[in-house]
Order: sequence, then C-alpha cells, then structure tokens
Amino acid sequence: MNHPSAVWLARATASSLLIVGSALLGGCYERPPVDTVQTGIRGIGDEQVINPRLDAIKYKKNQLPEPIPPADADGPPATLVFQNLKVLKDLNIGQFTRVMQSMAAWVAPADQSCNYCHEAVMSSDAKYTKRVARRMLQMVRYINKDWRAHVGKTGVTCYTCHRGQPVPEYRWFINPGQSSATGLIAGNAGKNKPSIVAGLSALPGDPFKDYLLGSENIRVQAGQALRGTDYQSIKQTERTYAFMISITQALGVNCSYCHSTRALRAWDQSTPMRATAWYGIRMARDLNNNFMVPLTSTFPEHRLGVLGDAPKIACITCHQGVFKPLYGVSMAKNYPELSGGDQPIGGLAPPTPTGASPAPHGVPPAMFAYPPPATDETPATPAQTPPTAALVAPH
Ligand code: HEC
Ligand code: HEC
Ligand code: HEC
Ligand code: HEC
Repeated sequence: MNHPSAVWLARATASSLLIVGSALLGGCYERPPVDTVQTGIRGIGDEQVINPRLDAIKYKKNQLPEPIPPADADGPPATLVFQNLKVLKDLNIGQFTRVMQSMAAWVAPADQSCNYCHEAVMSSDAKYTKRVARRMLQMVRYINKDWRAHVGKTGVTCYTCHRGQPVPEYRWFINPGQSSATGLIAGNAGKNKPSIVAGLSALPGDPFKDYLLGSENIRVQAGQALRGTDYQSIKQTERTYAFMISITQALGVNCSYCHSTRALRAWDQSTPMRATAWYGIRMARDLNNNFMVPLTSTFPEHRLGVLGDAPKIACITCHQGVFKPLYGVSMAKNYPELSGGDQPIGGLAPPTPTGASPAPHGVPPAMFAYPPPATDETPATPAQTPPTAALVAPH
C-alpha cells in the first residue's frame, strides 16, 4: 500500500510521455519486487504483501537517536531553582535538564535549540512554542500512563511524532472539500477527486473528521436484516473504507493484518491487532479533542488549517508507515521522566474524557480466536474501556 508516485513521475518525465502515461496509471501500483508472507492458516488469504526495497528505505528512516545518559535519581528538586514549572515539578535538576536537552534535540530546529521555546529569561512563557510544548509534555505523560491499552510498555516520546522537527511530518486538518456548483451536483461528500489519505481512491477525502474527532460509528454491515432498525448508510460505508485504507497506509500493512477479509466485521475472526487498533482509534480521538483542539488559540494563525482548525493527530502521526512506531523499539523506557507512571500528571486540569464511544457489534475485542499477545504485566485500565452494553450476543 505504498505509493511512490512522486518518484515514478520524476523518472517518467525524464524519459518519455509514454512512460508518463503508464506511471500515472501505476500510481496505485508498486514497483517490484513484491513478496507475500503467510501470516495465518493456509488458503484463506491471511497474507501480508511486502516490498523488500521499500522496507529497506523505511527501516533506515526509523532509526532511533542515541539516548542521553540517564540522570542521577537523587538530587535537589527542580522546583528549588526554577520558578515557572507546571508539569515537570516532580523531577530533580538533573532529570529536568535531561528532558530539556532531549526536547531540543527531538523537536527544535538545530540552529535554534533552546531558543526555539525560550526567551533569554527562561521562566518566561512568551513564546507560543513553549506553551505548546508544556501541553505536549502533559500529553506524552498521559499517553504513556493512561493509554497503555494501545501503546503498551513501548510508550511514546516527542520523537515518536516529531523526528527532529518542530512540525511532525504527518498531521491533518479538516478538509474543506472542493468547491462545487449548487443544485443537483452539489454534495459530493468529498469524493470524486483522488483522495491522498484513502490510497488515491475516489473515496471521501476526509475520513478523519468523523472518526478521529467525532465518534461516528465505524460500521458497514448492519446487525439486523430489516432496514430502519440498524441502518448503515452508503456514505458511512464509503467513509469506513476510506478510513480503513488510511490505516493500512499509516501502518504499512494490509487489511488482513487485522481482519479476516471474508468477515470484516467479525471480532472472533479478527487478529489481536484489531483490538489494539480499536483502542488506537479512541486514543487518537481523545488526543485530538483534549489536547490538540484546545491548543487552537495557542497556535499562530499560520499553523492552523484553512478552516482555522488546529493540526491534529492520526495513526500515521506516530506510526509513519510502520506496524509499530519505530518498529516497536521503546524510547520511552530510557526516559522515565516522560513515563507519567507514578508521577502526577502536572498542574493543569486533567483532560476530560471524550464522551461515550460507540458500542462495537459482535463479540468484544477481548474474545479472540487467537491467543492474546503475551504480556508479563497486567495492562493498566484504559482511559476508555469498550462499553459492555450490546457486547453479549454475537450477531
Ligand atoms: C520544545 C520546547 C522547549 C525547548 C526546545 C527547551 N525548553 Fe526549556 N522549557 C520548556 C517548557 C515547556 C518548560 C516549562 C516546563 C513546566 O512547566 O514544567 C521549560 C522550562 C525550562 C526552564 C525552567 C525555567 C523556570 O525558571 O521556570 C529552564 C531553565 C529551561 N527550560 C531550560 C532549557 C534549556 C537549557 C534548553 C536547551 C537545552 C531548553 N530549555 C529547551 C520548553 C522547552
Ligand atoms: C502524538 C504525536 C505528538 C507527540 C508525541 C508530540 N507532539 Fe508536539 N506536535 C504534534 C503535532 C501534530 C503538532 C502540530 C504541528 C503543526 O503545527 O502542524 C505538534 C506541535 C508541537 C510544537 C509547536 C511547533 C511549531 O513550530 O508550531 C511544539 C513546540 C511541540 N509540538 C513540542 C512537543 C514536545 C516537546 C513533545 C514531547 C514532550 C511533543 N511535542 C510530543 C504531535 C506530537
Ligand atoms: C490495524 C488494524 C486494521 C486494519 C489494517 C484494517 N482494519 Fe478495518 N477495522 C479495524 C477496527 C478496529 C474496526 C472497528 C472500528 C470500531 O468499531 O471503532 C474495523 C472495522 C472495519 C469495518 C466495519 C465492519 C463492521 O462492523 O461493519 C470494515 C468493513 C473494515 N474494517 C474493512 C477494512 C478494510 C477493507 C481494510 C483494508 C483496506 C481494513 N479494514 C484494514 C481495524 C483494522
Ligand atoms: C501516540 C502515538 C500513536 C498513535 C496516534 C497510534 N498508535 Fe498505534 N501504536 C503506538 C505504539 C507505541 C504501539 C506499540 C505498542 C506495543 O509495543 O505494545 C502501537 C501499536 C499498534 C498496533 C499493534 C501492532 C502489532 O503488530 O502488534 C496497531 C494495530 C496499531 N498501533 C494501530 C493504530 C491505529 C489504527 C491507529 C490510529 C487510529 C494508531 N495505532 C495510532 C502508538 C500510536
């Protein structure tokens, strides 16, 4: 599901128009070698398509920076010398300095370092980047503490999304849609234009607004035969497919990584990864509503979307084309300062939950045909557990 169309085009222009034509057609098409790996029972299409050439590029892109040596656990508290701490109040001076140095390396442009967030008087909150960074610190601690149902013990750091730059490579804004004439042809639901997030298909161009900001049901199949009681609309189906395609791109996997494609809806035929994804959807929604959207007025105008909305998080913001961000290598384990584990979340008000999530149809994610992934620790209670209503009888 990778689309190296830019590379295709660059090469094609250099050679001939004929090749341009085939390259355009080949936009949804992958240059060989393409291989398949069987991941389930034989003969039922439980396979992942892989491309060793693209995987090698991805692998290079997902190397981790060297961690700064750990700080001494003992030492005078940071609050002793610093006046304006609202989040990192629990750290000692050594730990605090280590976090600042790491943030400078992970987020600030190389030529600005500390100055990217700070004025000469370090305690000043004048720069918006510092105020955003403070909220980001809370967000990272919150993810590592309260969203273990998704991020496990691997956790995240600023680097997971930022990768050494102030603006993460992947984020999204509400898509205003294309302008169209009113009348009969109005209301195209954002379709009929190649949708980048949906694999250049003609599916809706903004599957995120409904699912990663709103909490629309992600459903295609109705649970009952009669229309009216459990009606799933065509629009909902299109959006679901667009969103699912965006997930496959974000993780660099196929549908069968999570689903048995003969019964997309059935939880008892899905892989454990689908349950992780289920939590991932709720987590991204939570982060957008409780961290990114409230930052709208903190960001300067040029950082906002066409509709004046804040930049937002999708699966790809962390995953960046890989099934687990940075291939599941944990950076957070080297940064207990960001774990949020037993530490208080900080001075600002804790984020409020996003409201009820839709009840999944069928068997709950906990009941898998596959054994659940082995963990040597009971996972923390997720911020949002799958609702228990309507989970009893599989349809
Ligand atoms: C990405 C933004 C960012 C970068 C880069 C950054 N800081 Fe900070 N800094 C912050 C935030 C946010 C706080 C406040 C933390 C809190 O509220 O707990 C802070 C607080 C501080 C304070 C405490 C000031 C006080 O008296 O309250 C010092 C000192 C400091 N930073 C030093 C540094 C140094 C030195 C560097 C470069 C190595 C650096 N910072 C890089 C965001 C940043
Ligand atoms: C889950 C992903 C994610 C994580 C983790 C994350 N950020 Fe961010 N951050 C974002 C997104 C998305 C933006 C918005 C970028 C834009 O302007 O479009 C952002 C913006 C920022 C900005 C403003 C950049 C600018 O120039 O406008 C700062 C500063 C920042 N983050 C600091 C941090 C720090 C420090 C950490 C770690 C404590 C962190 N972030 C962790 C996703 C993340
Ligand atoms: C990383 C895991 C993952 C991948 C990959 C994935 N899905 Fe999904 N899919 C889910 C989850 C989780 C849900 C349930 C979402 C919810 O209830 O919030 C879902 C729901 C669906 C549904 C709705 C089923 C119903 O209840 O009506 C369809 C259809 C679907 N996916 C199709 C696809 C297709 C087609 C692909 C490949 C293009 C795909 N999925 C790839 C995780 C995944
Ligand atoms: C804040 C960063 C972040 C975001 C956003 C995020 N993930 Fe993840 N995801 C992770 C981390 C970290 C792991 C590794 C967890 C582990 O090692 O147990 C992970 C693991 C997964 C896995 C398990 C893969 C496997 O092979 O076991 C799936 C599936 C997944 N994510 C799907 C999603 C989907 C779908 C979305 C968007 C709806 C999403 N993630 C959004 C950080 C994120």
